[in-house]
Amino acid sequence: MTASDSRTHASHQEPGLLAPGIARFTPDEVDPASLPRSLAFERPWPRCGPVPADWAVVPTFTQVSGAWQALIDPGDGTSFYGTGEVAGPLLRNGFVTEVWAKQPFRIDEDGTPVANYDERSPSLYQAHPWILAVRSDGSAFGVLADTTYRLRIDLRAGIELRCESPFPVVVIDAQSPQSVLRRLAALCGTMPLPPRWTLGYHQCRFSYYPDARVREIADGFRERRIPCDGIWIDIHYMDAYKVFTFDSEGFPDPSATNDYLHRRGFRSVWILDPAVKVEDGYSVYEEGVAGGHFLRDAQGVEHRQWTWPGEAAFPDFTRPETRRWWSELTVEFLRHGMDGIWVDLNEPSPILPHGAELPENLQHLGGEEIAPGSHGQYHNVYGMLMSKSTFDAMLACRPDRRPFVLTRSSYLGGQRYAATWTGDNVSNWEHLEWSVPMVLNLGLSGQPNSGPDIGGFAGTPTPELFAHWIAVGSFLPFCRTHNALHGNQEPWSFGAEVEEIARTALLRRYRLLPYLYTLFHEAATTGLPVARPLFFADPCDLGLRAEQRAFLLGADLRVEPAVRDPLDTPLARPQGVWRPFALLGEDPEQPAPHPRLSLRAGSMIPLGPAAQTVDEVFDGSITLLASFDEDGRATGRLYEDAGDGFGYCEGDYRLTTYEARRRGAQIALRVVQVEGSRGTRHPHPKVLAL
Ligand code: GLC
Repeated sequence: MTASDSRTHASHQEPGLLAPGIARFTPDEVDPASLPRSLAFERPWPRCGPVPADWAVVPTFTQVSGAWQALIDPGDGTSFYGTGEVAGPLLRNGFVTEVWAKQPFRIDEDGTPVANYDERSPSLYQAHPWILAVRSDGSAFGVLADTTYRLRIDLRAGIELRCESPFPVVVIDAQSPQSVLRRLAALCGTMPLPPRWTLGYHQCRFSYYPDARVREIADGFRERRIPCDGIWIDIHYMDAYKVFTFDSEGFPDPSATNDYLHRRGFRSVWILDPAVKVEDGYSVYEEGVAGGHFLRDAQGVEHRQWTWPGEAAFPDFTRPETRRWWSELTVEFLRHGMDGIWVDLNEPSPILPHGAELPENLQHLGGEEIAPGSHGQYHNVYGMLMSKSTFDAMLACRPDRRPFVLTRSSYLGGQRYAATWTGDNVSNWEHLEWSVPMVLNLGLSGQPNSGPDIGGFAGTPTPELFAHWIAVGSFLPFCRTHNALHGNQEPWSFGAEVEEIARTALLRRYRLLPYLYTLFHEAATTGLPVARPLFFADPCDLGLRAEQRAFLLGADLRVEPAVRDPLDTPLARPQGVWRPFALLGEDPEQPAPHPRLSLRAGSMIPLGPAAQTVDEVFDGSITLLASFDEDGRATGRLYEDAGDGFGYCEGDYRLTTYEARRRGAQIALRVVQVEGSRGTRHPHPKVLAL
């Protein structure tokens, strides 16, 4: 290593201040240059100065039975959030999380192993070594254990972090949880703005088969006038579950399937798994072997485990050559006209035996910014690196379109490449209830674009459960129904009454899309989540800290789901005036199962028409819904751009801040500020006062 190499390495993990309000600490016994480069950070963050003497949150490092530990005293009354994808309560005080990407397994009462989770599952599919801590005075700090190794976060008495390998701790200290998240985004990057159509409703199934069934489902939406933008194609389209192949009977012409969907205003998203079937004559496997792309054990023997297609080998996504190879395969695949890619089982998870994982002593070769290391070191970033390779493929194939990747496994910072969903949930009320706090905690861990499988993946929901789930799911950032091999789960599968509820729920979402898209833009530029916990309305109000049924969209819209709490606890509400409103001309006191919506006094949000596709909504006119404050004033923003492509990065967008004033029966609207060079499609939006 040259002197300049070692200097660059040292700067990667050097302790000290990284920026105002962000400090990095490392154990004294460890040479910072020996610590691996951060894969959570978007780029290296060199030290810019010493940690100020009055810095409040300082970890104490110790070694306990060979493991490295960092202890942090959070102060009394501090509430914990984040820790990524976790089932159960929003508030994480008292919980232990193993940061280890895992397809969770539990054993049913009758002894059957079941691939799903509950609130006792210490690890789920994603890995976020991150805690957001909100002090009793409303100020906040964030703790990032900057390691890709397995990490234990124990929040039972303060913050205890434990890992087999030494790790730096990055502390972000700020006046509010919102500021902590902005700083986290500065370090780890934000979600790039997704194509606008992805904000619509998506219908998925394991699996729609054959292609005629895909067409039938698509027609079903248009005939019944239920809004939908995405139809998803799961693994049965493949030939014997071999990635990058097509089943010649069921899906003989994938381009024709995509064309059919496109002509009817749908986009398609197709699944890809990482594991490659071991089979002579299968070109993907043979290329993988020839290119040295598969993971090997310490003896250099290709590692194989059982997944959907049988015995399979696993690409080493830490290698730049392997990521490029995978990207090239994906580019070829995309030539059939898929609009998005869904990457799955990338914890990575073998299918059999139940609960199997890859051995931790497999060797990753790395390259460029990633040093060679064991699977134990890189397991947690496997899904993120596969997402990156897929994202790069979409960009390479269509440089003028925004990529859309959905991934099951991810890591802190993975929002740079992919949206996520909350994995294989179950069709029961508990999983419906967890949908909200799971999405909120992901949002508090840097990932603003996520959602549950609406209706539950495993099992079949009762009509009542499905109705409640779609009514709530319509207000979460990523909105997709998906289910396994059981009964049908299309909005019309539960009878006329539920079909009407689903249509109403989705029309409500579509009417809100101009506001949601404005929030997606905010998330892409600031890192603030789209769906936010209620306590964001007033971080000093301790009564809001544990509220996990009601939530906020942006800063101004409160969503109060109608799902009953088993203990009958009333929903917490922030102080101040919040006015209930209707979206479809119905009663503002929305009848269950529709959530009750209300708008903070002083705010204004843009609405579109209740249309069938995202494009139709954005072709329509905008109404500004205003909830005036006591001075008769309301402000709000509208983000407009081309809906796809990267023109917005060059200024081809318009972010308008409006202010409405009410004097008697008169409402005057004025533009307070305009950002971007794009002309508006809505020079004179109508204002609707609540
Ligand atoms: C995994 C995914 C699920 C998918 C299935 C088949 O269980 O989590 O969403 O449908 O694999 O591909």
